[in-house]
Amino acid sequence: YEIYLNGMTGTVPRLPTDLTRLEELTEQRLGPGPVGYVAGSAGDGSTARANRAALQGRRIVPRMLRDVQERDLSAEVLGRALPAPLALAPIGVLSIMHPEAETAAARAAAAQEVPFVLSSASSTPIERVAEAMGDAERWFQLYWAKDREVTRSFLNRAKASGFSVLVVTLDTPLLAWRPRDLDQAYLPFLHGVGTANYFSDPAFQAGLTKPVHEDPNAAVLHFVGMFADPGKTWPDLAFLRENWDGPIVLKGIVHPDDARLAVDAGMDGVVVSNHGGRQVAGSIAAADALPRVAEAVGDRLTVLFDSGVRTGDDVFKALALGARAVLLGRPYVYGLALDGQAGVEHVIRCLLAEFDLTLALSGHATPGSLGPADLVEQSV
Ligand code: FNR
Repeated sequence: YEIYLNGMTGTVPRLPTDLTRLEELTEQRLGPGPVGYVAGSAGDGSTARANRAALQGRRIVPRMLRDVQERDLSAEVLGRALPAPLALAPIGVLSIMHPEAETAAARAAAAQEVPFVLSSASSTPIERVAEAMGDAERWFQLYWAKDREVTRSFLNRAKASGFSVLVVTLDTPLLAWRPRDLDQAYLPFLHGVGTANYFSDPAFQAGLTKPVHEDPNAAVLHFVGMFADPGKTWPDLAFLRENWDGPIVLKGIVHPDDARLAVDAGMDGVVVSNHGGRQVAGSIAAADALPRVAEAVGDRLTVLFDSGVRTGDDVFKALALGARAVLLGRPYVYGLALDGQAGVEHVIRCLLAEFDLTLALSGHATPGSLGPADLVEQSV
């Protein structure tokens, strides 16, 4: 509200309150390479565009005279009482955006009481991010390595550092065809960015013939060969269950049958996501997949959502389509690039303030009362 009240009383915020403007500002600041990596998507970008179109093509149908004076944004997610139905999505290699990278983003999440999902491909080791977060809610995202010992070691390190929920990303067994990166020859991993978690890991180091500092190129190649595994199948999930005590959430689910398989495998949740359109060009928009997945699983597991969320009304729509909470991707990364921790906090506060107003103006006092009847489908 502070930002809202300031805006009403003549104090101009440091960053725009329309979060869709942040990408352009970041590109002006950092140049096309890093922003190309963040903004880019698979193929001709059709999935990323479809993500936005599917959200924009659903329109809210507001209700009147429903006493929205007292509102409560809190949501119970995976047994946790969250103050708002929002978390920061796992995004690797944040040091290309800001020197304080994941540490600044994690501090912002902690300050705003939003769970931070730390990527396996973080530019900061797990332990250092945890240190920056005090006892704030943190989740760990796993890229499921080919090497079992590396996976086991990551899980142990995350557990020891107080990460409570495991988010396993399934949509990236290989990196997709991403023309913006290919054309600019910009792949942070090849420069050893986003590999700090791996390079600092004892099980990873055990797979090298020489220490990382003696032969960094060999270490990068070792990383590229083992960071994910296209050979994995559903029964392999048993290994994760054995090695993780808390809730496990599968990220990248868009098919209702996969959501049912997640239930059968005893998983606690899914993130309906197409990785922000970065993996399969021409794929279903995440917001079109969401109601199908939500219907398939009912309340047998927790449904989360990301891919394309940019505004408060997008959060409203995702919840109305069946998500319990939403993960925010690129916008917070631009906030980080433009103003470090304060920039990420700005993005979280704007998004939640806009969501709260959308909720109220549409006749709702809590996220729990949203449902498909609050939306219509209409082309934009
Ligand atoms: C990602 N994403 C991602 N996901 C993941 O599970 N592990 C990761 O390391 C990364 N890294 C990553 C880097 C960059 C630059 C982007 C843009 C995305 C995907 C991310 O978690 C999320 O699914 C999308 O960002 C959501 O889409 P929007 O909100 O960015 O459209």
